[in-house]
Amino acid sequence: MLKEENRFSKALKSIARDQELKAYLQNSNELFPIFMKGVNRFVAGETRTEGLERVRNLDSKGYKVSLEFIGENTTSEEECILAKNEFKELIKELGKNQMDATVSFDLSHIGMMISDTLVFTNLEELAKEAQKHNIQLMISMEESQKTDKILSLYKRISKTFANVGITLQVHLKRSSIDLQDLLETPGRIRLVKGAYQESEGIYIPRSEELNKRYIEFVSMCIDSNHPLSIATHDENILMGLKAKGFLNSPNVEVEMLDGVRGDLLKSLKEDNIQTKVYVTYGSEWYLYLVHRIAEYPPNIYTFISDIIE
Ligand code: FDA
Repeated sequence: MLKEENRFSKALKSIARDQELKAYLQNSNELFPIFMKGVNRFVAGETRTEGLERVRNLDSKGYKVSLEFIGENTTSEEECILAKNEFKELIKELGKNQMDATVSFDLSHIGMMISDTLVFTNLEELAKEAQKHNIQLMISMEESQKTDKILSLYKRISKTFANVGITLQVHLKRSSIDLQDLLETPGRIRLVKGAYQESEGIYIPRSEELNKRYIEFVSMCIDSNHPLSIATHDENILMGLKAKGFLNSPNVEVEMLDGVRGDLLKSLKEDNIQTKVYVTYGSEWYLYLVHRIAEYPPNIYTFISDIIE
């Protein structure tokens, strides 16, 4: 990233959590519809119907799909229950249509900000429903202050449910130890570089060092024959892994965000590599959008062009 892009990225990440700005945009009759034109490249829509329509479209083209009803840091119990119910309906719909799909979510969306009991009860209910319909669940990873809690909830659920997987952020220094631990659990491990702005010293910024570490983590999962999702758009990393023959294992899939590097994912699919697209929907698209622009600032041009065109 260029110096100015880096500054822009940091500034964006710092407003990602600005609730006032988010509310202002969402309640503005003028700005909201304009913004949605740019948002739609990254988010399927605001409703479950729109999310499922996007899934069907990708499924018909031969992609596996992850689907998330966007949300996090939910602080009212009622809203956590509503979110859990939305995920449950999603699981039922995907199961009914016999889709090879994963439902992805943040634990802070279904109760982690309120109590361990609430989040675990909701998680267990979703895992049971998913097992009934042969659907996989994937827990996303949030800021580092939450890592211990998320990992401990994941380890607890994975004792009974092998259909629940976990995301690990390669950029956190602690993750090499966490990975050793996670290799002992049955669920799929999704490796991501990491999207959150972290404090100096606890993470490795985007660099060759981080890319090497990503490849090392992939190798460790492959050596253990562990179900793995390689969730990156980094072409150099993917081509390196492909050359090593790491992408052909039946336990491995390459997963990318909808709207990002679709060309690359398509070419991998055409090489018979298992590919998955991460689709999102919901009204809480603000943080998601800001992260997509912050991690790749040229997306701001795409966003503006989508609005103008
Ligand atoms: P990197 O950021 O180094 O980008 C490499 C190259 O990919 C760029 O040079 C560019 O060409 C392209 N690229 C990357 N992002 C782009 C974008 N938005 N638009 C256009 N091009 C782009 N993070 C997290 O902290 N917790 C989580 O639970 C998840 N979950 C998750 C699921 C899935 C399926 C994916 C793909 C990603 C996540 N992430 C995540 C986000 C992840 O941590 C990371 O921020 C992004 O994937 C971008 O990092 P890359 O690995 O692509 O590399």
